[in-house]
Amino acid sequence: MIGLPKTEDQKRPIMRAYSIASPAWDDKLEFYSIKVEDGPLTSRLQGIELGDTVLLGRKPVGTLVLDALLPGKRLWMFSTGTGFAPFASLVRDPETYERYDEVIVTHTCREAGELEYSQRLVSDLINDPLVGEMVVREDGTPRLKLITSLTRENHSLKGRITTLIESGKLFEEAGTPALNPETDRVMICGSKAMIDDTAALVETFGLKEGSNSQPAEFVVEKSFVG
Ligand code: A2P
Repeated sequence: MIGLPKTEDQKRPIMRAYSIASPAWDDKLEFYSIKVEDGPLTSRLQGIELGDTVLLGRKPVGTLVLDALLPGKRLWMFSTGTGFAPFASLVRDPETYERYDEVIVTHTCREAGELEYSQRLVSDLINDPLVGEMVVREDGTPRLKLITSLTRENHSLKGRITTLIESGKLFEEAGTPALNPETDRVMICGSKAMIDDTAALVETFGLKEGSNSQPAEFVVEKSFVG
């Protein structure tokens, strides 16, 4: 939960659930948010300056953790909008590459500008001192791939993640076979509707939802703040 100190006309501070976008090992915390012009929190949050106070909940919670997944060959991370945030953390974590040979992140947004953060973050990873060497194989082929699609503007790949999975276009683009419970693990983060629809689709391939106490083939997390 993050928020800002209450203003004079507020009874209590406004707090919202955010995903931590920085990796687990980092000594800085990074968050990824949209800016809502008249939003109670983000209208103010976007104006913070160095030295301002930001409130932070004491206890982080979440279900998008590698421990809730069984070992496998390939890890898929399906995100829409700011649902990319938890994957911004995981793609910078060496443990992700220690557990999976191939990591494919998808990011679907309405418009091109919303893809800037994910595209920059992933393309800069090759120069990262910690995971730079993990994101490519010795023969130069990528172990980490970012597949982007847009739903309301032209782009090389168009359409919702659900449409791309159903049509098989996603697997064509990734150069992989379709989802298979033997080899593939999936994490999903986006709006409630996106999660429900994508999870239902993933289940049709035979993957089951996992938890820390009972790891399985996929996990989901709602990105609470739009
Ligand atoms: P679309 O433009 O077709 O609604 P939002 O900002 O509404 O969360 O949307 C972010 C992205 O997620 C958009 O590209 C949107 O596509 C897509 N999206 C919205 N709802 C779903 C859903 N139920 N399943 C898959 N993708 C979705």
